[in-house]
Amino acid sequence: MLRRHRLALLCALWPLAGPATAAEQSAIDPAREAELETLLYQDCGSCHGMTLRGGLGPALPRDRMQALGADALSHVILHGIPGSAMPGWKALISEADARWLADHLQTDNRLETLDKD
Ligand code: HEC
Repeated sequence: MLRRHRLALLCALWPLAGPATAAEQSAIDPAREAELETLLYQDCGSCHGMTLRGGLGPALPRDRMQALGADALSHVILHGIPGSAMPGWKALISEADARWLADHLQTDNRLETLDKD
């Protein structure tokens, strides 16, 4: 359970950096949304599974993503999880992009839960 521990620490520290504003979140246009969705299911999917059911990285079901919280999620996406295979994406995506991905994982994610399967 070491990895959960590390993430909990990130969650605890993240509020110090402050959340993104609503204006930043709405800065994503539909073309960029399509690109980010492709990134999620293909690039993230290369480790987390094309259906997000897990692979090298853990499954990313909607219920788990909601439990992590939007701030911690976008932080993990931008900065990765040090000491693990989870890379940071800040060289490729903006903070607004990361917020969009976090929101998508929590609300429109094709994988609702692992509990029902
Ligand atoms: C090179 C493989 C790899 C890629 C690509 C990758 N991840 Fe990960 N990811 C991992 C691994 C491995 C972990 C587990 C790290 C740990 O805690 O030890 C992880 C953990 C996570 C977690 C925390 C999950 C949880 O339940 O605690 C989230 C959220 C996440 N990744 C999202 C993403 C997103 C979004 C992308 C694409 C932008 C992505 N990952 C791309 C390997 C990857």
